[in-house]
Amino acid sequence: METVLSGIRSTGNLHIGNYLGALRNFVRMQHDYRCFFFIADLHSLTTHPHPDDFHGNVRRILAQYLAAGIDPEASTLYVQSDVPEITELYLLLNMIAYTGELERTTTFKDKIRLQPGNINAGLLTYPVLMAADILIHRSHKVPVGKDQEQHLELTRVFARRFNNLYQCEVFPEPVAFNFGEELIKVPGLDGSGKMGKSEGNGIYLVEDPKSIRKKVMSAVTDSGPVPGQPMSEPISNLFTILSLVAAPETVRFFEEQYAAGTIRYGDLKKQLSEDIIGFLTPIRERYLSIESDSDYLRKVAALGKDKARESARATLDLVRSAVGFKSF
Ligand code: TYM
Repeated sequence: METVLSGIRSTGNLHIGNYLGALRNFVRMQHDYRCFFFIADLHSLTTHPHPDDFHGNVRRILAQYLAAGIDPEASTLYVQSDVPEITELYLLLNMIAYTGELERTTTFKDKIRLQPGNINAGLLTYPVLMAADILIHRSHKVPVGKDQEQHLELTRVFARRFNNLYQCEVFPEPVAFNFGEELIKVPGLDGSGKMGKSEGNGIYLVEDPKSIRKKVMSAVTDSGPVPGQPMSEPISNLFTILSLVAAPETVRFFEEQYAAGTIRYGDLKKQLSEDIIGFLTPIRERYLSIESDSDYLRKVAALGKDKARESARATLDLVRSAVGFKSF
């Protein structure tokens, strides 16, 4: 059975982009693969969250994973920092990762621009920790959005380099995938770029209907279709989101109106809000009942930790032996 692993940083709340890029398709496939889902709390330290917020963030994402439909019995759902084997593998992989290739990653260059006052070494080695997350379970497939493609490429480089250097076949070369579909980039509501946690341009999985309506109604648009001109990015983004949450007839209806030049963006936005609300309501309702259930969350985290450590331990034994560690 192939191993699938999906990770989400413990920053803020999950948004529709996280869900559609890395979760939805896998929720349905939990019995067909050996699935791991985890909360990347160590990765979130690169942006220095306040200690008072740290645990609450992890807890919230755990509850949101469950609300999205992850079954903690069928899959392994865990918190990254509960599995120290990952940090050991991270250290070992750092010895075969070159600073030049890390400095060239787009995400590192973006971060330099975003947080010039905090360019810590953890940011530089972020892809190495991510490779450790993936390789610790010898994963074959990694559900990610388009933004993580380069990290997956580096993971394959490290896996190959390790196997070559130590003349072994410990690691498979994992691929990014989204179940036969293209990797997706869910756009934000601000007219350009992707929906992101730090950009403040997204709809959260557990957002209440009133706030969803407000955000969608104030999404960026243009001054109307111009015959012969291609659709502008803000409008095309609204159509992309609509196509992800609405029935095909609805999308077709608005596309026809757009083509005829009779579309009213207010109507498009109203429809989009209602479809997003319909799409998210079951998740939000599950979340509200799960997040207050501390006993349940504690049990899920403990079960996940045990299952994840068992798998991680087995890989680390192979890795340590390949590198040449021996007990006296
Ligand atoms: P993060 O927390 O930013 O996002 C989690 C997942 O959601 C996907 N995603 C999107 N997909 C489509 N459209 C969007 N607008 C969008 N925004 C986010 C991301 O591609 C990702 O799959 N470095 C990772 C976390 C991580 C990880 C891992 C992922 C750490 N270790 C190992 C996979 C495997 C991150 O910051 O994702």
